Amino acid sequence: MNDKPIYVTEPYLPPLDEFIPYLEQIWASKKLTNNGPMHQQLEAALRDYLGVPEIALFNNGTIALLTALQALRISGEVITTPFSFVATGHSLLWNGITPVFVDIDPQTFNLDPEKIEAAITPRTTAIMPVHCYGNPCDVAAIQEIADTYNLKVIYDAAHAFGVEDEGGSILRHGDLSAISFHATKVFNTFEGGAIVCPDAKTKRHIDNLKNFGIVNETTVVASGINGKMSEINAAFGLLQLKHIDCAIRRREEVDRLYRRNLEGIKGIRLPDFQAQTVSNYAYFPVRVSHDYAVSRDELYERLRAHDVYARRYFYPLISDHAVYRGAESRSPSPLSHAHSAADEVICLPISASLSAHQVEFICQVVKEHGYGVSYG
Ligand SMILES: Cc1ncc(COP(=O)(O)O)c(C=O)c1O
Repeated sequence: MNDKPIYVTEPYLPPLDEFIPYLEQIWASKKLTNNGPMHQQLEAALRDYLGVPEIALFNNGTIALLTALQALRISGEVITTPFSFVATGHSLLWNGITPVFVDIDPQTFNLDPEKIEAAITPRTTAIMPVHCYGNPCDVAAIQEIADTYNLKVIYDAAHAFGVEDEGGSILRHGDLSAISFHATKVFNTFEGGAIVCPDAKTKRHIDNLKNFGIVNETTVVASGINGKMSEINAAFGLLQLKHIDCAIRRREEVDRLYRRNLEGIKGIRLPDFQAQTVSNYAYFPVRVSHDYAVSRDELYERLRAHDVYARRYFYPLISDHAVYRGAESRSPSPLSHAHSAADEVICLPISASLSAHQVEFICQVVKEHGYGVSYG
């Protein structure tokens, strides 16, 4: 038995004493927010680390998504995936936009580009795909459709910190990408997020929107929001960034250990993230099919009985929540692959601090039920 509960993830916290000098600087400057020195340093550091043209920090990923939609004046209908965290859909509803849910590709869990065209109507203005679990979408196919129909593309890249394809950061694709730095994410600032954008002019517009639309003491040019990241969150981000490569390497080791232990179990399909060249190992989603001895939900319960809190991301589908069943959202076709994924996927715990012993313990529980072997 493991000696403490194992949650789906554990936030990466660098040594506390390393954070104190940052706090001392904040106390000395008395600048707590509003584009202070830590905020400016973190934007510059992330721009370099991620290799993106411009980045605007936010107080969380949801406000970043809301603001991205506002910045491009998106309205009408937006095509998106039902297989995501509710914030994806909520950001559309909060902007008075109709989410149009389209099915996913069962291999990648991402919006299936082949299904997008059939969902386009004269009211469609944009596509909001999600790089689900940090696995890159088919960005080329999505861009081609967007170009053909003159649509904007806003990526919900909440899971995709540090993910790269052959050309560099996955965050450079589309018109804008919104990312989350929530405590559960690979890179966290307790709460936080950002919009990655292509140029300084767009960043200025976004920065204005995240600060109430204020230009100066007497001029407000837009009905903006308070989306600013505070100095304390930005300072933590700067410290976190010093440790991030090591944290991602640790996650990679956990991923490798899972694969070694779970390979070949009947009815268990391991994540297949081949398309990307650099992964962030944000999640370890396994698919439990009918060939496995028990259902996904049964495995979920049995893991819980062993104090292992795996999560059924993303069950229920966004489109199945009560608020999405009304006229405010549409699903032009059956979402059969998304429903199967919601019924079969379980995300096993992964974090930089998960020990080899803990991974082996989790795998033992999975194997025990798969093989019917008794576990002592
Ligand atoms: C896919 C997705 N989109 C959006 C969000 C919202 O980010 P935040 O929690 O930073 O508001 C999250 C996670 O929290 C997410 O997983």
